[in-house]
Amino acid sequence: MIPVVASIGGSDPSGGAGIQADLKTFGALGAYGCAVLTSLTAQSTQGVTGVHPVPAEFVEDQVRTLVADITLHATKIGMLGTATVAATVGALCRQGVLPQVVLDPVMVSTAGSRLLDRDAVDQVRGMLAHVALVTPNLAEAAVLLGLDPAEQAQDLATMKEHARRLQDLGARRVLLKGGHLDGDTSSDIWGDATGVRVLAGRRVRTRHTHGTGCSLSSAIVALRPRLPDWASAVVGAKEWLTGALAHADELRVGHGPGPVHHFWRQGAAGTGSTESSHVSWA
Ligand SMILES: Nc1ncnc2c1ncn2[C@@H]1O[C@H](COP(=O)(O)OP(=O)(O)OP(=O)(O)O)[C@@H](O)[C@H]1O
Ligand SMILES: [Mg+2]
Repeated sequence: MIPVVASIGGSDPSGGAGIQADLKTFGALGAYGCAVLTSLTAQSTQGVTGVHPVPAEFVEDQVRTLVADITLHATKIGMLGTATVAATVGALCRQGVLPQVVLDPVMVSTAGSRLLDRDAVDQVRGMLAHVALVTPNLAEAAVLLGLDPAEQAQDLATMKEHARRLQDLGARRVLLKGGHLDGDTSSDIWGDATGVRVLAGRRVRTRHTHGTGCSLSSAIVALRPRLPDWASAVVGAKEWLTGALAHADELRVGHGPGPVHHFWRQGAAGTGSTESSHVSWA
């Protein structure tokens, strides 16, 4: 079974994050990817210089046209951009138009640019109860909990506490990402109906971490349809992302923090043989 999955989010022309990273991730993990754009960004590995939102009605048009034809097995929601787009996509979640939704509540880019209107935060908070899984980083969890930036978690005990509080706000499952903490491990917190636990991973020493969050949530979406539960999809996605980080230095893309190597498992395949049984010179 080849899963058919969709990403709803913003464009990153540098190809390391956003829709572009999601489609690469889907392909790298053997899923067929669809994409609905919520905004264009002018962006490189060095930062975001502009954002051009898609009107909310047209985001809805894209979704409804897509699902009227194509049966999706799982959906990722990334950058929403504006409060109206967030309200529209939130309504689609509540109406059950989108299956198996993973919400990556993108608010601020790694380089610090704001990617979500202030008013939209309430809309995103309201979506928590209507998606299968939410994957905030430390700062996004603090914003969703209404905390000051200074109160964002800096250790695993506080991360567990924040994950539990997100569940209290209605989230069914939470993956609270700890990529921005220091240490030899890069541990995340998994929370579901059975409680919260630490998902430990090794920390890769690289500066090329552009798009790690996007790639992790889209990997979960790509894997979920072929695995028995969400926790297994999360473990498989983190395993794959750790490899993509470990191979990131092989890429030479841009002057800022570059992208991870989505196709590390495929290696240099595709550049080799020019022989073909389907095509020949006449
Ligand atoms: N250097 C690293 N080595 C290993 N894993 C990492 C590293 N940096 C981040 N991760 C992992 O990558 C995933 C994404 O975490 P992170 O906290 O960076 O998300 P994010 O802030 O949403 O990312 P982004 O900046 O792309 O939006 C998590 O599973 C985290 O543990
Ligand atoms: Mg992120």
